Amino acid sequence: MFSELLPFWTKYWYYVLIGVVSCSFLKVFYDISKKSATFIKNDKYSTKLVDNTMEQIEDIGEETLEDSEEPALPKDLKHIPCVYAKPSEVEILHRASEFYKTVAARRTIRFFSPDPVPKEVIHDIIKAAGTAPSGAHTEPWTFVVVSNQKMKEQIRCIIEKEEEINYKQRMGVKWTTDLLPLRTDWIKEYLTIAPYLILVFKQAYGLLPNGKRKVHYYNEISTSIACGILITAIQYAGLVTLTSTPLNCGPAIRNLLGRPQNEKLVVLLPVGYPTKDATVPALQRKPLSDILVEIE
Ligand SMILES: Cc1cc2nc3c(=O)[nH]c(=O)nc-3n(C[C@H](O)[C@H](O)[C@H](O)COP(=O)(O)O)c2cc1C
Repeated sequence: MFSELLPFWTKYWYYVLIGVVSCSFLKVFYDISKKSATFIKNDKYSTKLVDNTMEQIEDIGEETLEDSEEPALPKDLKHIPCVYAKPSEVEILHRASEFYKTVAARRTIRFFSPDPVPKEVIHDIIKAAGTAPSGAHTEPWTFVVVSNQKMKEQIRCIIEKEEEINYKQRMGVKWTTDLLPLRTDWIKEYLTIAPYLILVFKQAYGLLPNGKRKVHYYNEISTSIACGILITAIQYAGLVTLTSTPLNCGPAIRNLLGRPQNEKLVVLLPVGYPTKDATVPALQRKPLSDILVEIE
């Protein structure tokens, strides 16, 4: 039998060899792709593999993550018709231009009046911020509103202490030099003068009723979008604010406010009216041609 096939082997052996090698390669390739697909599908931390910008998952502590097959939202969540009334083109043009004028008038204010602001306004502003889109609708934010004078003083004390070290030691010559034209320093009187301080915390992860931790996808960017809406809502309501990110103060302020470990301070916004003699640096904003790239 073998001797009968010998002429065939000697003549076509390399075809057989190429066939065997090709099949082996195909098999290995198939196994690898199947394995990685299964890994991505089954691994509860697959987001780590497909998007390494989500370092926040590392903060969570893998063993306590919810690994249920159940989605965080109800499995049978209803989909309803979208309520939308299409405006005319004239109206769109008008509205876009009006909105631009409103937000273009926004300035960071560093001189606040103690004049009171109705609490309902603050609630509506925060409700507006809470409409922000969020990764997988996790709504990973907490807004803490401080109007208590003693608490404001304690916050100011923490911030001024840290900011003095920031300005004198941590920030370095370049940073402090860049800030000179804005005339900022570590004295933050507005923290005890503005009627409200809104402290926005991102929730690095959520907590489920069973105590397990829930992944908050893109919590940083989701909260940042909410902050953008918050600042715009403050402006639209006719109030002013100062966007601040107190360096190195997060944990101390979180402890002072009794917020849990999963929350991290993102921004602190004093909210109120400007003083009558408030000044702002005469800054220019980039023209459209510098910030827009159109690909038609
Ligand atoms: C993330 C962020 C952090 C900021 N931190 C501070 C701050 O700590 N102190 C301050 O006086 N202004 C702060 N600002 C305000 C900027 O200086 C201000 O937005 C910028 O100078 C532009 O001015 P405008 O807001 O009036 O357009 C901050 C702004 C942003 C967006």
